[in-house]
Amino acid sequence: MFSHRRYLMCRPTYFAVEYTINPWMDPTAPYDTELAVRQWTALRQVYTDLGHTVEEIDPLPGLPDMVFAANGATVVDGTVLAVQFRDPERADEGPAYANWFRRAGFDVVEAKAVNEGEGDILLAGDVLLAGTGFRTAHESHLQAQEVLRRPVISLQLVDPNFYHLDTALCVLDERTVAYLPEAFTPGSREVLRRLFPDAILAGADDAAVLGLNAVSDGRNVVLPTQAGNLAQQLADRGFTPIGVDLSELRKAGGGPKCCTLEIRAGA
Ligand code: ARG
Repeated sequence: MFSHRRYLMCRPTYFAVEYTINPWMDPTAPYDTELAVRQWTALRQVYTDLGHTVEEIDPLPGLPDMVFAANGATVVDGTVLAVQFRDPERADEGPAYANWFRRAGFDVVEAKAVNEGEGDILLAGDVLLAGTGFRTAHESHLQAQEVLRRPVISLQLVDPNFYHLDTALCVLDERTVAYLPEAFTPGSREVLRRLFPDAILAGADDAAVLGLNAVSDGRNVVLPTQAGNLAQQLADRGFTPIGVDLSELRKAGGGPKCCTLEIRAGA
């Protein structure tokens, strides 16, 4: 089930925790930008060692969260749905990512409502799983369906610690996902149970180290080293877990998936 992937990443040259837009961010706590760069570089190396292609967008000063490339767009069949951030602190990232895609020759469609890209919109087989509740507006789910031409399943998030869908759910392959049931409303939980009866259910301890913020190529699953139980659950199901330590980036509420935007080119 392995397939070659093309990722867009942004070096955390200007990484900082200067404001609080999710419960993980404490601007009074120390952070180490150089360590963040080293940890990010190791993540990038994991992808290239696996044979994947990594492209880079230039980081911009004054945008300390720009490292979280997953929030930069949603790309399906070479069509790019641009983003619109909820918080003014991240607003300028939207045009920066959209311009990168335009320069790379993609068709870019502007977002009509708050839409934080792959943070909340994940392709699972032929459907888009779309989160709402904290960031991406429900209205954006409809736009995603029209622009990206895949059925959208809206899922409602309830725990502020898991404010983006990609902190509560990970797509493992065409048919399998892993998720934290408690991060969703009872109704959305039931939808997930019906759609993915064989899903891996993650425990609160693994979710609390952003273990679900993982990146799968269908076989290898790159996840935080601290998520030991989830790594074991993945191995039991035939996946190859690969641990990476992104402890500095977690101080801003991000893990491997947040740093990684998948570019799905047209046919
Ligand atoms: N500090 C960033 C924010 O709150 C973290 C974004 C994490 N990205 C993600 N795809 N979950 O917006």
